[in-house]
Amino acid sequence: MSAPASSILNHVDGVLHMEDVPLPVIAEAVGTPAYIYSSAYIRTAIADIRSAFTGMPLTIQYAVKANSNLSILALCHAEGCSFDIVSGGELARLLAAGIPTDGVIFSGVGKSVEEIDFALKAEIACFNIESEPELERVAARAEVLNIRAPISIRVNPNVDAQTHPYISTGLKQNKFGVAPELALELYQRAHAHDWLDVAGIDCHIGSQIGNVEPLLESLSCLLELVDQLAAEGIALHHIDLGGGMGVTYQNETSLDMDAYGAGVRQILGARKLALMLEPGRSIVANAGVLLSRVEYLKPAAEAGAPSFAVIDAAMNDLIRPALYQAWHDVLPVNRHEAQSHVWNIVGPVCETGDFLAHERELALEPDSLVAIASAGAYGMVQASNYNARNRACEVLVDGGEFRVIRRRETMADQLRLEQELPG
Ligand code: LLP
Repeated sequence: MSAPASSILNHVDGVLHMEDVPLPVIAEAVGTPAYIYSSAYIRTAIADIRSAFTGMPLTIQYAVKANSNLSILALCHAEGCSFDIVSGGELARLLAAGIPTDGVIFSGVGKSVEEIDFALKAEIACFNIESEPELERVAARAEVLNIRAPISIRVNPNVDAQTHPYISTGLKQNKFGVAPELALELYQRAHAHDWLDVAGIDCHIGSQIGNVEPLLESLSCLLELVDQLAAEGIALHHIDLGGGMGVTYQNETSLDMDAYGAGVRQILGARKLALMLEPGRSIVANAGVLLSRVEYLKPAAEAGAPSFAVIDAAMNDLIRPALYQAWHDVLPVNRHEAQSHVWNIVGPVCETGDFLAHERELALEPDSLVAIASAGAYGMVQASNYNARNRACEVLVDGGEFRVIRRRETMADQLRLEQELPG
């Protein structure tokens, strides 16, 4: 499932297609840069997770943060997912997509009073509590609003996810969750509280994890607590293992989902616990490309100097290379006769950090289209208006059809918040 998107991206007669749609047709229709996603990939990725956990009572809580486009949310809902949110904004997106909120779980270290009230009124399934004061705040708001709050404690198991430090979240030096000893105390307090319902336990140790071992180690850590709580008469309904399943961008091995499923089945044993996962990246990363056009070619002036292909997408569209030194494949859209050459693929933003890829051998000409691969997760959601650039549009492909699922931003959109001021 997490293989590069070769199954949905193919050259047919020298032209790159997503599913059955030639990418130049989309570029012609909507312009560039444009994010383009495959419905088929998303459906398959969801089905593959399910099949790895066959026979277990699994709910897939798609992590909205990975790609929060309303149509992507609707597609995940249609495929039976529920959702993991980390803000009131993400809850508002689910409501705007017409998705029921009773299966939603709410993670994140900084839930505001407004966000907690919003989620209580939306009757979400669970608050993943990340600190002692947050537990107090949720309890207090539940009492004020007269709505009971289902809670889970996010445990920080102090396990090294062996991933990029910015996206590692399960070590005790990270801001996330609480240590197991404190979790135990918080459960006792929550159990005795009139307005809190103890529902489950959760963790999320990081993102882009390639090995099952740290994930299974975290599960064992959580189960120790589950058993301890059971002995004290506090029964949990669910265990939520978070997201983090790694995918292939370059030549990393993606997380072995079947091994993960088998490991979880074995470690859970006979315990009667509903299971939740919060995958984001593994569902959408390789479903998407960022389609862009070459503006200028700047071949090296002297031997040994770099050559630059300046494209119309930039770090404001896809910040992952600049922020995490992330590697994204760059695929030629039209295979043509131009001589291939080693290019640094850069954008128009005025920073040396504005690059999409370094040293890629490609046959490019002015106006060539390129597809930056594996861009479906943490791409558009992290886009900004830096350099006053309008954010790209988004397109969803399904078989031989495609439709715009977010129109390209305009200057009027950007200016509205500063021009429409009172007085
Ligand atoms: N659950 C929680 C509580 C999370 O914080 C995250 C991601 C997920 C689930 C989903 O994890 P996934 O399955 O997507 O690995 N912007 C970074 C990734 C940040 C991930 C943050 N948390 C990137 O572009 O690599």
